Amino acid sequence: MFGAAVLTASDRGARGEREDKSGKVIEEIVQRLGGEVLEYALVPDDVESIQEKLIYFADQLKAEVILTTGGTGLSPRDNTPEATTAVIEKVVPGIAEVMRAESLKKTPHAMLSRAVCGVRGSSLIINLPGSPKAVRECLEFIEPALPHAIELMKGRVSDCARGET
Ligand code: MTE
Repeated sequence: MFGAAVLTASDRGARGEREDKSGKVIEEIVQRLGGEVLEYALVPDDVESIQEKLIYFADQLKAEVILTTGGTGLSPRDNTPEATTAVIEKVVPGIAEVMRAESLKKTPHAMLSRAVCGVRGSSLIINLPGSPKAVRECLEFIEPALPHAIELMKGRVSDCARGET
């Protein structure tokens, strides 16, 4: 069991002009993985609004995993990676590298996601792209490493090789 927070960045969603299907997909997957969605938020694509929620989710809510969706592309209002970079203390490049590499096998557009992943306190922040399809695919690629990531952040594992021969 792990506590998760879900953050959708979408100007149109925040104005009530578009249903947030991707946020719902994340919630479903978190539950399937045995996690609990502690809180969900939908904010416009402003760096400040995204940053504020990420800080709240990490520092106050203490969510072990914070999953964002949207705003990782190249359009002028795609600001999620900048907001994430501003609040994380440690970059975890491998998670974004795997998402991009595996997603490239599905679509060449995967190289256009600027997703950033990293740790703030004991929260792992993961940027996912915006479409429900991309969210499903990316979570499938990274889910095998999530339990160990949480254990590492909590300091419960100090030696990954212990027990190996
Ligand atoms: N990754 C996967 N697995 N599947 C996808 O369909 N779409 C891409 C990419 N990553 C996609 C994907 C597209 S079309 C874009 S533009 C970028 O993610 C950025 O998306 P975003 O701006 O919605 O975050």
